[in-house]
Amino acid sequence: MVQAQAQSNFFRPTQARIDLRALKSNVSLAQSLLKGSGQLIPIVKANAYGHGSLEIALLLKEMGIASLGVATVEEALILRQGGFDGRILILGGPMEAPVEVLQDFALEPCLFEMASLEGLEKNLKKPLGVSIKVDTGMGRLGFWPEDLDLVLKKLKASSVLKLKSVFSHLASAENPKSEAVLKQREVFEKVRKQVQKFFPSSPCFHLVNSAALMAGQMQDADWARPGLMLYGVAPERTLPRTQALEPVMSFTTKIFSLKKIPRGQAVSYGGTWVALRDSRVAILPVGYADGYRRHLSNQGEVWIDGKLCPVVGRVCMDLTLVDVTDLKSAHLGQEVELWGKNLPVEKVAEQAGTIAYELLCGVGLRVPRVYTN
Ligand SMILES: Cc1ncc(COP(=O)(O)O)c(C=O)c1O
Repeated sequence: MVQAQAQSNFFRPTQARIDLRALKSNVSLAQSLLKGSGQLIPIVKANAYGHGSLEIALLLKEMGIASLGVATVEEALILRQGGFDGRILILGGPMEAPVEVLQDFALEPCLFEMASLEGLEKNLKKPLGVSIKVDTGMGRLGFWPEDLDLVLKKLKASSVLKLKSVFSHLASAENPKSEAVLKQREVFEKVRKQVQKFFPSSPCFHLVNSAALMAGQMQDADWARPGLMLYGVAPERTLPRTQALEPVMSFTTKIFSLKKIPRGQAVSYGGTWVALRDSRVAILPVGYADGYRRHLSNQGEVWIDGKLCPVVGRVCMDLTLVDVTDLKSAHLGQEVELWGKNLPVEKVAEQAGTIAYELLCGVGLRVPRVYTN
């Protein structure tokens, strides 16, 4: 028991609290934005954006979600071995996984290279579902539409490759009316017709991510692949916040040392902050090894008892300092929110010079995920 607790780091008060009720509410919101018979393929790659992929997958399964998307075969295996028995799309393709792994665990790789399509076709002993990724303008993974006829012919002729879905990814979904999005949508419609010539009772199609789903860009019966919005974060602050997303993760810690810092004293590595008055500084047991970014040094804020307190000095590997001189109530053991319901992760991301995606999936392995509700 003691050993188990030590392994899960429960002796340190730093944790990522995951509010499953908020997640459910965001999933229901996403579902309400679908049209016709379309379904969600929630994206749970990168440990479900840091929220714990297996726990999230099992909750989604309980909610009746039958398909999930991950980036790698390893991520898919965590879900399968943990008891998720639905469809798992591997967005990053089969990579170097032996076909037996894909077959035995019934994983659905996305294909975007002829070599991997032909490799699977040659080596598979029994049928396997696959999805095809088409590049409609993102300029990243995916077959170009002009190469698609050949791909579709090969799939049609194959006795082992079973086409389950055709999809593409938007490069600028946060600007739903942009020329770039309109162009990609137009190309995707052409792709749909091209596919339907070969597969009339066809596979499912999906194009939209969180930003496009929230912008109401669903086509009838199309599926959607939201990630970020399910975790309660709006993809871009520029999008209208008409929909009530609830943040799922609260990254919290507790004050574990309180120090008087006399005027003129520098703090932390390099002495980059010097007290301009006699100050009180709280030391927090969290650092960049936990995913609290070093860029927040002298830039970030944390939320304590209704007040935003500035990060002072350099964020260290395991420690962060905040100025609580103006927070009279500050005391040892007091809860501190690094981001969450009171301090949006989008705001912290701005202070850290990055995006919410990177902060969420960067929460370190030594931070226990604690599931609530
Ligand atoms: C191919 C693909 N689809 C869907 C998503 C989900 O995007 P979002 O989290 O913006 O909803 C991602 C995320 O990176 C992706 O790579």
